[in-house]
Amino acid sequence: MPSTRPLPLLDRFGRIHTDLRVSLTDRCNLRCTYCMPEEGLAWLPKPELLTDDEMLRLVDIGVRRLGIRSVRLTGGEPLLRRGLPGLVERISGLPDAPELSLTTNGIGLARSAVALRDAGLRRVNVSLDTLRRDRYTEITRRDRLSDVLLGLAAAQVAGLAPVKINAVPVRGVNEDEIADLAAFAVDHGYRMRFIESMPLDAQGAWDRSRMVTADEILERLGERFVLEPLPREGNAPAEEWRVVGTDSVVGVIASVTRPFCGGCDRVRLTADGQLRNCLFACQESDLRALLRGGADDDAVEAAWRASVAGKGPGHDINSADFRQPERPMSAIGG
Ligand code: 5AD
Ligand code: SF4
Repeated sequence: MPSTRPLPLLDRFGRIHTDLRVSLTDRCNLRCTYCMPEEGLAWLPKPELLTDDEMLRLVDIGVRRLGIRSVRLTGGEPLLRRGLPGLVERISGLPDAPELSLTTNGIGLARSAVALRDAGLRRVNVSLDTLRRDRYTEITRRDRLSDVLLGLAAAQVAGLAPVKINAVPVRGVNEDEIADLAAFAVDHGYRMRFIESMPLDAQGAWDRSRMVTADEILERLGERFVLEPLPREGNAPAEEWRVVGTDSVVGVIASVTRPFCGGCDRVRLTADGQLRNCLFACQESDLRALLRGGADDDAVEAAWRASVAGKGPGHDINSADFRQPERPMSAIGG
């Protein structure tokens, strides 16, 4: 039990931040074409990565002093982080433990789902853009679809529920599979979510005309299903619908065409210890330097609050002078 309720992590617009996304590594074992070039990226050097102790200290400050209630572990591919169940267990063992979830590409999840659940992980989101093996190999440049399907099933059996699937539809690539993906999720008891593609690729090749909009996604779903809107859950970015005649729910995250920045409750910590107040932020706060310079918790808390206080009203993807952040999605975390 928290001894005293921490002062909320407020910004200038009155938004309260309770969700922390922690990137555990910038590396990935896939090379999704909309994310990374074939040869991968220049990975962060090991000494620059936060250690488990450093991550734990920051999460502890977040929950104990700043009102963080949920933590999502991301990447790159977070399952590539050595000793992940141990880190999960330590976070779950904190006095004010946050609700812990993980976003993964699913490779290796079949092996680790039970250990992660036992360590205290509550839920997973698995990225899957297609159900066709040849297409999966084309999109991700790796022939690993069967590992992902096994990983999904293992997460379900382990009780990491509801198991959510994230898909990014791209025109001319997988937009014809939107209804098939939803049907697959309905059949298996997974919760499907479609995400509008955002300009966060390392190559800077995002092209608005290839983004499939929420309206189009709903139109495609409407050709196969009857959808009944559900009330939005708190600040959740997903708009959700019940698939009539089933117990399934599908969601759409319309980051570009229906931005939800006004309700944003997130802050992000990169694997090298930089705090970002927005996915699209162009500035970061170097918490690692504070930790390694011997700063006490008060100083770390103050830097964290200052970063959030400087948060802008939202992204400018739709404005003419939008500038893509230097750090790509794979090094920020979804
Ligand atoms: N736009 C939207 N979503 C993306 N993802 C990766 N890159 C992008 C992008 N440019 C998704 C992945 C994963 C989640 C973390 O973010 O598919 O599901
Ligand atoms: Fe890896 Fe995710 Fe990027 Fe694909 S989208 S290459 S799974 S980090």
